[in-house]
Amino acid sequence: MSPQEQRHPGDDPGTVSGSTPGTAPGAASDGPGPGDGTLAVRAGLPDPVKHEPTLPGPVFAAHFHLPGDPTGPYTYGRDENPTWTHLERALGTLEAPGEPGVETVVFASGMAAVSAVLLSQLSAGDAVVLPTDGYQALPLLHEQLRAYGIEVRTAPTGGDAQLAVLEGARLLWIETPSNPGLDVCDIRRMVAEAHAAGVLVAVDNTLATPLGQRPLELGADFSVASDTKGMTGHGDVLLGHVACRDPQRAAEVRRWRKIVGAIPGPMEAWLAHRSLATLQLRIDRQCATALELARVLAGHPDVTGLRHPGLPDDPSHAVAARQMRRFGSVVSFELADRARAERFLEELRLVDDATSFGGVRSSAERRGRWGGDAVAEGFIRFSVGAEDPADLIADVLRALDAARKAG
Ligand SMILES: Cc1ncc(COP(=O)(O)O)c(C=O)c1O
Repeated sequence: MSPQEQRHPGDDPGTVSGSTPGTAPGAASDGPGPGDGTLAVRAGLPDPVKHEPTLPGPVFAAHFHLPGDPTGPYTYGRDENPTWTHLERALGTLEAPGEPGVETVVFASGMAAVSAVLLSQLSAGDAVVLPTDGYQALPLLHEQLRAYGIEVRTAPTGGDAQLAVLEGARLLWIETPSNPGLDVCDIRRMVAEAHAAGVLVAVDNTLATPLGQRPLELGADFSVASDTKGMTGHGDVLLGHVACRDPQRAAEVRRWRKIVGAIPGPMEAWLAHRSLATLQLRIDRQCATALELARVLAGHPDVTGLRHPGLPDDPSHAVAARQMRRFGSVVSFELADRARAERFLEELRLVDDATSFGGVRSSAERRGRWGGDAVAEGFIRFSVGAEDPADLIADVLRALDAARKAG
């Protein structure tokens, strides 16, 4: 039995929270189980032990006492660690509340988690369908997959276009909402068609987090995320995870982690678990402010190409409203050109010019500076933090004004 499979009281907290403004219908609680805030603060905690802390501190161990036959759960530090176990249980609870069978494997980064699924599930002669508009490191993986004899097909996220190239594939990789374009595909439909064709489905759920959407409940085989973003939320930890129901597939992913050694440090894992306690507070605030900012930007003369799945007239809204419980903390838009966008970023006082997203401190960047995304020179990816909404929106409006005046 892996440490994950042991049943746990923290997986089963008792009370139900109320509904939350600024989120999709049913966001705070999907039915009779505990609400998201309750899940987040209790998730993965061990049984109370007198004189022990609520969340045990990080266990720093390269190896564990192991007389006799080498039986688990804890043998060698690259295989398992008690701090990972607590975090994996917590993440599993959030991915699929009330389903103790879901297994979660934590990784050193989101890319380690992404690669673990792709490289543990695919072999030479297989075909994989990836999005054309996904995270910009995916094309690096294309090269690697092709070098291993795997056929890589791509199609855009929007309009469920990946379905058109599904035939005979082994795995469909979905990223919804996509980063940075914020297009959305219909997970239920993609899963139904893929499974009918014998194709596995993995969803990169980084942008939404499990509070925004639960891919396993929507039928996916794997829910994958960079926990560097909203899940940990403080911009100080790199981490990733894979969750899945099938124990065999979970074992394959775990085996991949052992082979490659893409393991999180115990300190990072502990920090991540500690951060989960505030997940619902952070995500609710950030998503609500993101929608408010998007509404303000929708009426601004300098802004074009505005995207946020929570806006009723966004092309993604209808599908997003069916499958998302919160619409995310990212807003994308375009300014006239590169110079205007750079000026806007310089003028912001409460928003860091930095990459990444999902953190409590707002950040924004001119995405075209990396060269990997098919975006206009003036394209801004804006990650909304936990500042007071009025302060943040005032800062954005002032910076837009100043950027226009500078010509
Ligand atoms: C959608 C998405 N997936 C995966 C990753 C990779 O995560 P990490 O940077 O933690 O390796 C990122 C990073 O930005 C991302 O945005």
